[in-house]
Amino acid sequence: MTRRTVRIAMNGVTGRMGHHQHLVRSILALREQGGLDLGDGTVLWPEPVLVGRREHALKTLADQHGLDPAHLSTDLDAVLADPTVDIYFDAQVTAAREAALRRAIAAGKHVYTEKPTATGLAGALELARLATAAGVRHGVVQDKLFLPGLRKLKRLIDGGFLGRILSVRGEFGYWVFEGDWQEAQRPSWNYRAEDGGGIVADMFPHWEYVLHELFGRVTSVQALAVTHVPRRWDENGTPYDATADDAAYGVFEVEGGVVAQINSSWTVRVHRDELVEFQVDGTEGSAVAGLRRCRVQHRGTTPRPVWNPDLPAAYSFRDQWQEVPDNEEFDNGFKAQWELFLRHVYAGAPYSWDLLAGARGVQLAELGLRSSAEGRRLDVPEVTL
Ligand SMILES: NC(=O)c1ccc[n+]([C@@H]2O[C@H](COP(=O)([O-])OP(=O)(O)OC[C@H]3O[C@@H](n4cnc5c(N)ncnc54)[C@H](O)[C@@H]3O)[C@@H](O)[C@H]2O)c1
Repeated sequence: MTRRTVRIAMNGVTGRMGHHQHLVRSILALREQGGLDLGDGTVLWPEPVLVGRREHALKTLADQHGLDPAHLSTDLDAVLADPTVDIYFDAQVTAAREAALRRAIAAGKHVYTEKPTATGLAGALELARLATAAGVRHGVVQDKLFLPGLRKLKRLIDGGFLGRILSVRGEFGYWVFEGDWQEAQRPSWNYRAEDGGGIVADMFPHWEYVLHELFGRVTSVQALAVTHVPRRWDENGTPYDATADDAAYGVFEVEGGVVAQINSSWTVRVHRDELVEFQVDGTEGSAVAGLRRCRVQHRGTTPRPVWNPDLPAAYSFRDQWQEVPDNEEFDNGFKAQWELFLRHVYAGAPYSWDLLAGARGVQLAELGLRSSAEGRRLDVPEVTL
């Protein structure tokens, strides 16, 4: 076995996603398993180069994980000019992403990035064009596709269990504390439009690829985005005006006639089994998929409820569903996608979740917000390079 070290500049790794999912659960987890075996006698050994604005925060992070303090920098351009760095990864706040990705592409680095890739479709498409023209490999995080619940749902669809799919109903959300009497569990920039926040910008890119991969391309969107809680308290306990939407009620038409309704909310209390759940109804059967679980009800086992408000419910509707078994091991979704991206870069494996796919997500967010502002349903044209 030949061990090949690949140096990955990781920007924004002091943040929630960058730290937990990408550094610890993906890159460091790959090291713990001995690297990534490419199957051709090579094992890739990822070497993170921590990049950020605050040196002390990077040092603390490096210390915490036993990483060499020589491999951190607050100078992005210097890191990008380093020929030993192959890949640039971005998990910064959304508003800082596009400019950094442009610099990385111009420096000839392969790029892998969190979503949304930019704050508007024009910028997102430009990134896709620049990366393609530069001949670098590019990938965008689409972690929800790798959730066990959605993998099982995909398996059911591919196996024909649902028959002709009619509709999808998604519920995503939980209560995010305002920050006054209990600390908020999300960063305050999420609630400021001027800083790239808002639940549409955050979640519609996810819904785009989930719908696209499982059911088909989204062809129209109608959304109502609202700010239910207009005042919040930031990380320092200072009150601020929440200028971004904290809930969005969306209806999406999908190629082939599937209708999807998805509620996204940071102002809802959970009375569900998981923080996100999708119910899919088809002619042959239905499925309810969450982060980890997936339950089904077949046509042949569908009970016959009869509407009668004078009587209490005669049975538990939830008990009439059957659990879909795992039948395989599911790794962390972020790590699974990192592995596929690294195989794409170093072994030429096909990879479809690129910056063009990322631009589709940005487009759906942009059109969702416009639909809400204009109070009408909008077509979603196909994006091309
Ligand atoms: N794939 C997913 O499921 C998922 C989930 C949450 C967030 N995200 C995305 O990940 C990105 C980061 O989100 P997060 O929740 O980790 O945010 P966060 O606020 O916890 O982290 C942001 C990171 O960006 C850095 N940063 C760079 N420039 C900054 C600036 N001008 N102001 C503030 N911070 C700056 C911070 O230091 C920090 O490292 C966002 O683009 C978000 O859309 C993806």
